Amino acid sequence: MQDLLAALKAVAEPTRLRLLALCARGELTVSELTGILGQSQPRVSRHLKVLLEAGLLDRFREQNWVYYRVPLKGSGASRARQLLSLLPSGDPVMSLDWLRLDQVLADRLENLPVARSGDDEPGAHGVAGVDARILSALGGEPLGDLLDIGTGSGRMLRLLADRTDTAVGIDISRDMLLLARSNLRSAGMDHLTVRQGNMYQLKFANAAFHTVTVDQVLFQAEQPECVLAEAARVLKPGGRLLLVEYLTGQGGADSTDAPPQCPITESALAQWLERAGFIQEASERIAASPWPLVLTVSRRRHAADVAAA
Ligand SMILES: C[S@@+](CC[C@H](N)C(=O)[O-])C[C@H]1O[C@@H](n2cnc3c(N)ncnc32)[C@H](O)[C@@H]1O
Repeated sequence: MQDLLAALKAVAEPTRLRLLALCARGELTVSELTGILGQSQPRVSRHLKVLLEAGLLDRFREQNWVYYRVPLKGSGASRARQLLSLLPSGDPVMSLDWLRLDQVLADRLENLPVARSGDDEPGAHGVAGVDARILSALGGEPLGDLLDIGTGSGRMLRLLADRTDTAVGIDISRDMLLLARSNLRSAGMDHLTVRQGNMYQLKFANAAFHTVTVDQVLFQAEQPECVLAEAARVLKPGGRLLLVEYLTGQGGADSTDAPPQCPITESALAQWLERAGFIQEASERIAASPWPLVLTVSRRRHAADVAAA
């Protein structure tokens, strides 16, 4: 009862209710929230503190910025969603907040070269039908909690969003994270999140995820094998890894690009997966340019399997 009372007290104030509603639709900094609400920064910070203490908000740092959002899971997440479901639709104050939120998100992208290039979405495979093959390779098994490593524009998160309990994408590039956040917001996928992180040193506990995806990331990596070892570490035993990768060491006929430092072949990939503790369950090659793509689904061995191997 105490937790419920703390939550009810926290939202029983107009600015805090508006803040909660905004942070349920996006990951926002104090200065962005200040701009939307038209209130002073100290005042907004004080209200955010109350919501944090009541467990209705989470905060995380990205370089010099601190973001606030409704928690992804746990009692705070469900309580916040329950309270927000009581908000009347069409409320004039909230309607104006949504308009300003859209403007803030548009402003974020204004100076982002990756969003203004006018090219196809960065990260698209350039071959029709790959998304359908990904969905079919994963089959009907639930995806649970998912991590997308090197998420870029958040394409994989959006493709699999409906099938996950929670999903987080990590990327080293802040520009890509801003683009991904904007894409997730436009798609109304507020239960997903992206965080800055290095794929060689993931800031997640061992066995934290049921599914890990890595899409077109290894071919540019200096140490692809280390990325797979990190993926194995954060996967639960029996969890699955979906890999979509260019076979840069298997020169496509029209390959004019020089292979990167660490060329990828199907046999090298099989060895890395084996050494990282995976059993490959499915693998298919897809003709693509400038190199062929390989799509594999592998399962992390259980400890007993590792001991027996
Ligand atoms: C070719 S993009 C693929 C994006 C996405 N997976 C997709 O398929 O749409 C590779 C991504 O890996 C990210 N990346 C590169 N090095 C990284 C690192 N050390 N840690 C995390 N992400 C990294 C890049 O910023 C980039 O967004």
